[in-house]
Amino acid sequence: MRWRAGVLGVGAAVPDRVLTNADLEKMVDTSDEWITTRTGIKERRIADPETATSDLATEAARRALADAGLEPGEIDLIIVATVTPDMAFPATACLVGARLGIEGVPAFDLSAACSGFIYGLDMAAHGIEAGAYRHVLVIGAETLSRITDWSDRSTCVLFGDGAGAVVLGPVRPDRGILATYLGADGSGGDKLCVPAGGSRQPITAEAILGRQHYIKMAGNEVFKFAVRIVGEAALKALEKAGLTPGDVDLFIPHQANIRIIDAAARRLELPPEKVFVNLDRYGNTSAASIPIALDEAARSGRLHPGDLVLLVGFGGGLTWAAAAIRWGKEPSAPVEANGRA
Ligand code: ACO
Repeated sequence: MRWRAGVLGVGAAVPDRVLTNADLEKMVDTSDEWITTRTGIKERRIADPETATSDLATEAARRALADAGLEPGEIDLIIVATVTPDMAFPATACLVGARLGIEGVPAFDLSAACSGFIYGLDMAAHGIEAGAYRHVLVIGAETLSRITDWSDRSTCVLFGDGAGAVVLGPVRPDRGILATYLGADGSGGDKLCVPAGGSRQPITAEAILGRQHYIKMAGNEVFKFAVRIVGEAALKALEKAGLTPGDVDLFIPHQANIRIIDAAARRLELPPEKVFVNLDRYGNTSAASIPIALDEAARSGRLHPGDLVLLVGFGGGLTWAAAAIRWGKEPSAPVEANGRA
C-alpha cells in the first residue's frame, strides 16, 4: 500500500445555548442527581430555532478545512452522517457543499444513527485508498432537539445538538485509518427509532397527537446492547489492525452514557487517562459525538503524531462501528496507483 486515508484536519461547531440538568428539572419530573448518576450528563447544547443541521455542519466543515490548510475547491466528496437532515431531501451534504462553494462533486447523507460518522470514515477511506477521491469531507451533524419529545423524561435528558467534521486525505502508509469494523442488526430497529415521518407512517395529525414523530427508545435494551457491542467492536477493529488494547493511546467512544463508556474501558482494561469523555457538557449528539470529541482531543493536545486512536460508535439500526487510527498527517509521496494491503 502506497498511502492510507488519514485525518488532515478536524473541526466542530456547537450551538451557544446551554440546557442544564437544573433547567430540565423545571421541564419534566427529573433531578440533576438522577441524570448525573444514570448518564454522566450535566448539560447539553440546543440550537436556536433558526439553526438547522446544515448550519452546524457547514461551520464544522469550515473549521476542519482551515485545520487541514485546504480550500473548499480541493474537496472531491462530501458525506454527512445524520438522522436529523434539514429535509428528507435534498441531502444535507448537498446544502453544505453549496454553502462552502463546492461545485460539481458528489455529496450524500448517510443514515446509521450514532455509528454514522465512523461508517462515513470507512466509505471515504476506501475511496481514497482506491484512488477515486483525494480529499473527502466527512461530517457528523445533528439537531436532535428537533426530534426529542421534551415531555418524555426517559429520553429528553439524553440528547443535544452539534456537529463535527474531518477532512480525510492520503497520508503515509504507517499513518491514518488502519482498520475499521462495521455492523448492523435491523431486527433491533424498533428499539431506537422515530416511528412517523417516513413511508411506513407518514406525518398525520393523528401521528403528531400520538407523539410518533419523536425519538422512541427502549433504553434498557439499548443499554445492554451497547455495553456488549462497544467492547466487541473495539476488539475486532484492533484485531484487524494487528493490535491489542494495550496499544491504544486514546479511546474515543460514542458519548451516550458514562456507564456504557466505563464498562467498555473496564473490558478493554484502559485507564481513565486513555478514555476521552465530554458527554457531561454535550450529552448524546448522535453522529456528531465522536468528531466533536476528536476535535476537542486534538485541540487540547491529547493527540500526538503516532498515537493510536480508537473510535467506537453504536446506535439506532441497530448499528455499530469502530476505527483504529494512527494519528498524524504526514503526506504520502505522490504516486499514480495504490496497492491494497
Ligand atoms: N429522571 C428521573 N427518573 C427517570 C428518568 C429521568 N430523566 N428517566 C427514567 N426514569 C425512571 C424510570 O421511569 C424508571 O422508574 P421506575 O423504576 O419507577 O419505572 C427508573 O428511572 C429506571 O429507568 P430505566 O430506564 O431502567 O433506567 P436506566 O438505568 O436503564 O437508565 C437510560 C436509562 C439512561 C436511558 C439508559 O437506559 C441508557 O443510557 N440507555 C442507552 C441509551 C443510549 O445509549 N442510546 C444510544 C444511542 S442514541 C442514538 O442512536 C440517537
